[in-house]
Amino acid sequence: MPTSKRLNVAVVGATGMVGNEMLRILAERKFPVEKVRAFASERSIGMKVAFNGDTIVLERLDEASVKGSDVVMFAAGADISLMYGPIAAEAGALVIDKSSAWRMKENVPLVVPEVNPEDIKDNEGIIASPNCTTIPLTMVLEPIRKKVGVERVIVSTYQAASGAGRVLANELADQTKAIAENRRPEVQATTHQLAYNVIPGGWQAQSYGYNEEELKLVNESRKILHDPELKIVATCVRVPVQIGHSESVIIETTEEIEPDDVRTLLGQAPGIVIEDDPMARIYPTPLHVAGHDDVYVGRIRKDLSSKNGIALWIVSDNLRKGAALNAVQIAEQAIELGALGAVKA
Ligand SMILES: NC(=O)c1ccc[n+]([C@@H]2O[C@H](COP(=O)([O-])OP(=O)(O)OC[C@H]3O[C@@H](n4cnc5c(N)ncnc54)[C@H](OP(=O)(O)O)[C@@H]3O)[C@@H](O)[C@H]2O)c1
Repeated sequence: MPTSKRLNVAVVGATGMVGNEMLRILAERKFPVEKVRAFASERSIGMKVAFNGDTIVLERLDEASVKGSDVVMFAAGADISLMYGPIAAEAGALVIDKSSAWRMKENVPLVVPEVNPEDIKDNEGIIASPNCTTIPLTMVLEPIRKKVGVERVIVSTYQAASGAGRVLANELADQTKAIAENRRPEVQATTHQLAYNVIPGGWQAQSYGYNEEELKLVNESRKILHDPELKIVATCVRVPVQIGHSESVIIETTEEIEPDDVRTLLGQAPGIVIEDDPMARIYPTPLHVAGHDDVYVGRIRKDLSSKNGIALWIVSDNLRKGAALNAVQIAEQAIELGALGAVKA
C-alpha cells in the first residue's frame, strides 16, 4: 500500500463497538491518515474518543459535515448509512458501510478482501462490508469451492452479545452480575434473558420461519461468492459470550475431499488459522479468538452421513474481522487497486 499518500478519514458511529475498533485498527495498521474525524449521535457531541495515542472530539453528523473526507466509514446503523452514505459519496468520498443498508443493492459491491477483492473496482462510491458471520464463512467456503466445488452448506451460528452492539454487550454483563448477586436480571435489549441461556432468534422475523440474520447469511454469501444458486441454510443463535462468533458448518462438496486436505487447503488460505487437534483438546473458542484478526478453523472432519460431506467449526472476532478490520482492509485494497478517487499526493 502506498504510504506517501495521506487520506482524510471519517468514522461515523465512533463511540460504538465497531466504530471504536475501527479507530484502533486504523492506528494499528498505520492506515495513511492525514486527518481523522469522528461522528456519533447527538448525546456524544463534544465528547472525545481515543485515536493513536491522542483524542478526537466527536462531531455532529449532518449534510455538511459528512462531506469533505476521502473515506467515510459508517458504523451507526442502516438508517444513518441510507441517509448520509449517498451524500458523502456524491461529494467524492469512498463510503465503506458496515450496516446492512447497501449490501444487497446491485450497484454496490459486497466485499471480503480475501475472497472477492476485484469487486471493489465496480463501486460507484459505496462499498458494503458483509455481516459478521458471512465474512468468516465465505473465507472458508471460497478455497474449498475453488478446489472441489460446493453443493450445499448447512450452518448454525453461536453469536456473541457484542454483535448486537454496546447495549446487549452491557446487558449481558449486567445480567451476569445480577445473577451472581442473587438479583433478578433485567431483560430489555433482546427477547429473552441472555445470561445463562441460548437464544435461537431475537432478530426480526422474516418469511418461512427464518429471521433477518439467517437470510443475510444466505443472501450475502451467494453475492460474495457470485453463486446465486448456492444451496445454503442457516440457523442463527445468540449465546452468552461477549466477543467472538462461532459457526458449525457442514459442507457438501462436488468432489470428495479428505479432512487432511481441507486442513492443508484452509491453512494456506489468507487470513485463516487452523487450530485442530481434538485429541489434545485444541480447537478455537471465542474467548481465545477475541482480539485476534484471523479466522480460526478447527474440528475438521468427515460428515459420516454423506459421501462428500465435511464438518468444521469456525470462530472469529465479530468486531475485528467480522466488522471493523474488514472495512479497513476494503479501504486498503481500494488504494491498491487505484479505486479511491480523491487520494492526495
Ligand atoms: N457489532 C458487530 O459485531 C457488528 C458486526 C457487523 C456489522 N455491524 C453493524 O455496524 C453498525 C454499528 O454496530 P455497533 O455494534 O458498533 O453498534 P453500537 O455499539 O450500538 O454503536 C452505534 C454507534 O452509532 C452511533 N449513532 C447512533 N445514532 C447516530 C446518529 N444519529 N448519528 C451519528 N451516530 C449515531 C452511536 O453513537 P452514540 O454512542 O452517541 O449513541 C454509536 O457510536 C450497525 O449497523 C451494525 O449492524 C456490527
